[in-house]
Amino acid sequence: MDDIKEYIRSLPKAELHLHIEGSLEPELMMKLAKRNNIEIPFSSVEEIKNAYNFSNLQDFLDIYYQGAAVLIKEEDFFDLTWEYLLRAKEDGIVHTEIFFDPQTHTERGVSFETVINGITNALKKGKEELGITNHLIMCFLRHLPEEDAFKTFEMAIPFKHLIKAVGLDSSEVGHPPSKFERVFKKAMDEGFLTVAHAGEEGPTDYIWEALKLLKVKRVDHGVRCMEDADLVKYLIENNIPLTVCPLSNIKLRVFDEIKDHNLKKMLDRGLNVMINSDDPAYFGGYLLENYYQCYQDLNLTKEDLRKLSQNSLDACFY
Ligand code: ADE
Ligand code: ZN
Repeated sequence: MDDIKEYIRSLPKAELHLHIEGSLEPELMMKLAKRNNIEIPFSSVEEIKNAYNFSNLQDFLDIYYQGAAVLIKEEDFFDLTWEYLLRAKEDGIVHTEIFFDPQTHTERGVSFETVINGITNALKKGKEELGITNHLIMCFLRHLPEEDAFKTFEMAIPFKHLIKAVGLDSSEVGHPPSKFERVFKKAMDEGFLTVAHAGEEGPTDYIWEALKLLKVKRVDHGVRCMEDADLVKYLIENNIPLTVCPLSNIKLRVFDEIKDHNLKKMLDRGLNVMINSDDPAYFGGYLLENYYQCYQDLNLTKEDLRKLSQNSLDACFY
């Protein structure tokens, strides 16, 4: 491994924006499809990989939800999470706060309990055997109605002790944070912290709504904040972390190439940013690869890398 990769690996890092369903590698997808007798429209790992060319977020989500259909049993969710944790260990991750999307599974008849048991059993093993601490964040799918989010919230109540925060993901444009103000209020009343994807493809108004209405403690992505000087000022003054995902932003065409990404500008402006992998099985790289490509193409210094990793630790929900 070259020196800089070893340096990045050695920095203690937290991953704060990782969809566990987005860590489903093509190899595991094939294996689970076979194990569970599920038909998928691919006959080889190569075919799956070749399908991973996206022109926007929705294009990706269509394939991502299709892939998640192979996850049926508790052991499937366990295997998925355990594979991610092994990769996380290799990359020098010491703490992870992972998203899961219960509705992706409950809509297909898989119980909430199956999903959360599989994930949390692997997280427990990861803490004991790999020393990786964790929190779990339950996301609502924003393309579905508010009522469905309320139903999902009710399903989560018996497992409340296992979930640190609620979040908001899926198709952003046309589904503003305000649509979920009431369910987030209920979640906060029950003691959950809040985060939301905002300003990935959606406008800066959505970031304001996430902050003001959903009272988010972190903004997921948030890269479009740079279009609004007042918003940048607010984010800095309130030290709100932004969980930036560089390779994701390239694969989903938010920026053309890493060298066009605004991460370095955000960092230099004083925003509290850090690097994350989002859906690494789909976007061509786990956390270390995200750091490395930013180092190479954004001319980051070692001090930038250190600062980014420190920001990730400071933004954890300890
Ligand atoms: N679900 C999984 N990855 C996502 C992303 N990058 N944006 C919104 N929803 C997602
Ligand atoms: Zn995401």
